[in-house]
Formats: sequence, C-alpha cells, structure tokens
Amino acid sequence: MKYSKYSTVIIGSGIAGLYAALKIEQQVKLPDGLLLITKSRLGESNSRYAQGGMVAVMKDNKSDSVPSHISDTIKAGAGLSEFNTVKFISENSDAVVKDLLKFGVEFDRDENNNLCYTKEAAHSVRRILHSGGDATGKMIEQALCRKVSENENIEIYEQTDAVELLVSSAECKGVIVFNNETGDYETVYSSAIILATGGIGQLYKYTTNPVGATGDGIALAYNAGAVMQDMEFVQFHPTALAIDGDENRFLISEAVRGEGAKLCDSDGVEFMSKYDERKELAPRDIVTRANYNEMQENHTDCVYLNASCIDSKKLAKRFPTISKKCLEHGIDIAKDYIPVAPASHYFMGGIRTNLKGETSINGLYAIGEAASTGLHGGNRLASNSLLECVVCAYSVAEYLKSIELKTPKQIDEEIKSIIDKYSNEDIVMEELDIQSLKSELQNIMWDYVGILRDKKSLETANELIYRMKADFPRDVKCLNRDEYEYRNMLTVAQLIVHCALNRKESRGAHFRTDYPKTNEECIHSVIVKEEMELVK
Ligand code: FAD
Ligand code: SIN
Repeated sequence: MKYSKYSTVIIGSGIAGLYAALKIEQQVKLPDGLLLITKSRLGESNSRYAQGGMVAVMKDNKSDSVPSHISDTIKAGAGLSEFNTVKFISENSDAVVKDLLKFGVEFDRDENNNLCYTKEAAHSVRRILHSGGDATGKMIEQALCRKVSENENIEIYEQTDAVELLVSSAECKGVIVFNNETGDYETVYSSAIILATGGIGQLYKYTTNPVGATGDGIALAYNAGAVMQDMEFVQFHPTALAIDGDENRFLISEAVRGEGAKLCDSDGVEFMSKYDERKELAPRDIVTRANYNEMQENHTDCVYLNASCIDSKKLAKRFPTISKKCLEHGIDIAKDYIPVAPASHYFMGGIRTNLKGETSINGLYAIGEAASTGLHGGNRLASNSLLECVVCAYSVAEYLKSIELKTPKQIDEEIKSIIDKYSNEDIVMEELDIQSLKSELQNIMWDYVGILRDKKSLETANELIYRMKADFPRDVKCLNRDEYEYRNMLTVAQLIVHCALNRKESRGAHFRTDYPKTNEECIHSVIVKEEMELVK
C-alpha cells in the first residue's frame, strides 16, 4: 500500500469542499500540502444540480435583514434550529457572497447591474440569489472548480473514495482511500481531515440527488465514533418531475412556485388552500405532505404544477434548464401541466459539528450537507443549504488558520490494525449483485421510512435492514465502490430508522402518523456507535 501525508485533507468536491480548499490554501500554513479527494470527477456532486439559488442577506438589500432571515429559518426549523448557528450563518452571508464574486462566481443581475433576488417557500422577502437562471449550483461549482484546478498548491485525487477514517483515542490521524479505477489503496495521514461528502438522497427509491449521494462521510464518521445528530430528519422535496421509470428525478425548483405557479390535480383544480394559508409557499414539509395526500386519495402517481400563469418569456429566461428538460419529455411548461411528485432531497441530520466545523473527534471536521450544525433544525428553509456550505467552509478555514497543523508521527496499534485490513491482498471475494441490494434498500426506505412513518413501518424497516446488514459479508474490505456505498447506505439507514423510532412525535419533516402531535419539549436526537451497539 502507498503512504502519504498532508497538512489538510478535504474529502468531497461539492461547493463546500471546493470553497474550503480555496480558503484553506489562501490562509492556512500547510507545510505538508493540501489534498482534495473526490469519488467523482471534480465538478460532479449534488451542488451541481442546485437550481433555486442561495440565500444572501446582503447589507445593501434594504428590504431584508439578518433578524428577518433568522426568524424565517427558525420558523421553518420546527423548534430545532440553533439560534447562534442561524445568526452566525446569516451574518456572514454578505461577506461570503462578496468573496465568491472575487473567485469569479457570477449571480444574475438586472439591467442596472444590481443583483436579482427571488423568493421561495417560507421566505418573507426576496433574498435568494441565482445564477444562469435556474443553474445556480452548476455556475458556482464551475467557477470554483476552475480556481481549484488552476491552483498548483491543491493536489487533487479524482475517482477516489474515502473508505475508513484512521481514528484512535478519539483523534483522527488520517484516512484510507481507494482508487475506483485502479483498485489501489492508499493510507493518507493528516491531522486535519474535513468531510464534505454531501447527503444521503440515494437511500430512497425516488430522489432528486445524483448517484453519489450515499451518505459515505456520515457512515465513516459514525463508524469512527463521532456523535450524530437528528438522523430522522430527511427532507422530501414536493415537486420532482414525475416521469414513469425515472427514479432519480429531475427537480422542478420551488422558485417556479415562488414566481406564481400553482399545484393542481389533473383537472386543474388547485388544492393547496385546503392545507395551509400560505398555499404553494408553505414550508416544504407541508407542501410535500399535501402532494402526497392528494396522490394517495386520488390513487395517482403525481399531482401537477401549472406555470401557465407566468409570462412565457419570463419562464424561458428564468428557468432555461427546467424548460429544456421538460421539453425533452414533450412538456411545454408555458402551456402544459407539469407532472410532479415528492422525492427525497436533503438531509438535515448528520455529523454533529460546532461553528468551527469540529466534530466530536479531534482532527475530524465536517461541513456542508454531511454536517448537522443546527441551522436547519427539523426542516430546511429553501436555499439555506448552499449558504451553509460556503459559510462553514469559510469558518473551518478561519479555525485551521489559528492552530498548528502537525501531521501525526506516532502510529499506534489501533491505527495499524485498520491499515492491515486494507493491505491484505489475499482475501478472495465473490461478486455480489449490489444494484439489486441497493434497490431493495431504497424500496424499504421509501415504503417504511418515508414521508409518513409509524411504529409498525419503522419496526418492519428495522428488521429488514438488520437482516440485510447481517447478510452482507464485508466487514473488512470491499470489492469495489458500489459495495462501499452499499455498506455506508446500510449504516445510515439503520441510524435513520433508529432515531425515527425513538422520536415519538411529529416535527418538521419527521411525520409519525401514530404520534401526529408535536411535543412541547424540543430536543435533538443524538447517537454514537457504542449506544447503537446496545440496541437489538
Ligand atoms: P455535495 O455537493 O453533495 O458534494 C459531495 C462531494 O463528496 C461530491 O464531490 C462526492 O463525489 C464526494 N464524496 C462523497 N462521498 C465520498 C467518498 N466516500 N470519498 C470521496 N468523495 C466522496 N440547496 C440550496 O441551497 N439551493 C438550491 O437551489 C438547491 N437546489 C438543489 C437542487 C437539487 C436537485 C439538489 C439535489 C439539491 C439542491 N440543494 C439546494 C441542496 C444543495 O445542493 C446541497 O445540499 C449542497 O450542494 C451540498 O453540498 P456539499 O458540498 O455539502 O455536498
Ligand atoms: C429548489 O430549487 O426548489 C431547491 C432549493 C433548495 O433545495 O434549497
């Protein structure tokens, strides 16, 4: 096995990982250099697909203010958002947007060159910046990728999966990585490992997330002993394009509703006023459950979004990606109803961190969707995720600047035994039908741990997942990326089910039909590996 050492290693090349790389390179002393690892190609991630935009509370936007953004975020968060986190992220948005502009990111502007703001559900004012109309994530990511690729001080490993963290005595000393193209393993030592590995959308049958969103970083951190938080809170987006056979679903941005589109049944009858006075712009969990309920009652696979009330020129300019994608399926969004249905979209839970990105393990940091900072609480407000990615990337860089990064010298027995597992060339592994196993797990999560849950459905899921885990013969080393991903998906699924069973109330995106009320007491779910091991 090859060995290397770096002052800092960032795992993941979404917006959180890319921006962290640039800020760390710019500010932190890195005697042993900086490594960015990604299991995809550099520009491939959830970030790339972000449409609606990024919240920005800009000082010169007179209609907005930090208190107003804090209030909207906390209301959507269903009691679980942390005030100090929300305030920190909101207050820093002006500075990070200005910094992104310096890195070449462009946001859409009006004819007077002023930034354009849009509105999405549960925001009280227009405060969302967008780029390329509805291609915000792609535009930000492309600009950051360009800067990272040009930067000679950032070493990049593509097609490389982090497969296990090297942790002993609650301190992270490195990571084992696996090159999916060559099949080679490498031990990378570092005293600062930053997980920016994104979310878990692929745990569900229907998702807006691309194939890589398998919760890897969350599973790695959990297995290494890190504290996990609010794992039962999975956000389902109400309006993914519902085309038969498509399980990875293209998103129809909430911004389309923000501009006036209405939800209706196949006869054009609007229904949102039955569910919430804010109708289409109610918080995401409410709109999702409304769509789901309409589909159940009418025995249909979708509801419809009617955007024909929006000026057709404006639609084409504001939503070029959505217009094009729908046209590929014969849907003209200026005239036709768009078939939509809920799909798993975002993970509010994850690795518990503070505002410096620190996890409960020394030397291990987490940022972006993999982290649970307490910003989103039980239900994320639209477009707050990209903001969290960049503010937290910025703040982890600030923190690393203030400490001395010493690459670990002493490798103890515990670390050595982890490395030995991956150095063993003699293990013979039979090839498994991982795609079928992944599909089975995705179906279980969708059917039993989805938009509505109850004790019976969760216990069924628990039993099935335990069995699948017991049947998966890979506790040492896997054959390929698919197997590593499946292993991680099983771990994260088990944690979601466990926390969902424990939360005997409905709050935000976690809706228990057997406990439909919200408790007065509002507490985070917190779990570590030793506790789970005691649970049957
Ligand atoms: P990601 O962008 O998911 O990047 C994760 C990276 O980690 C990838 O490069 C992946 O390859 C890598 N990785 C994962 N596991 C490993 C491993 N084991 N080893 C090595 N590398 C690994 N949010 C908003 O705020 N506004 C929006 O408009 C918006 N629209 C969205 C639209 C869609 C369709 C989707 C799916 C999400 C949207 N979101 C939006 C959410 C937002 O895009 C994500 O939460 C955010 O981009 C996450 O960024 P990230 O950097 O944390 O992770
Ligand atoms: C969307 O454009 O609807 C997605 C926005 C988000 O997930 O924040």
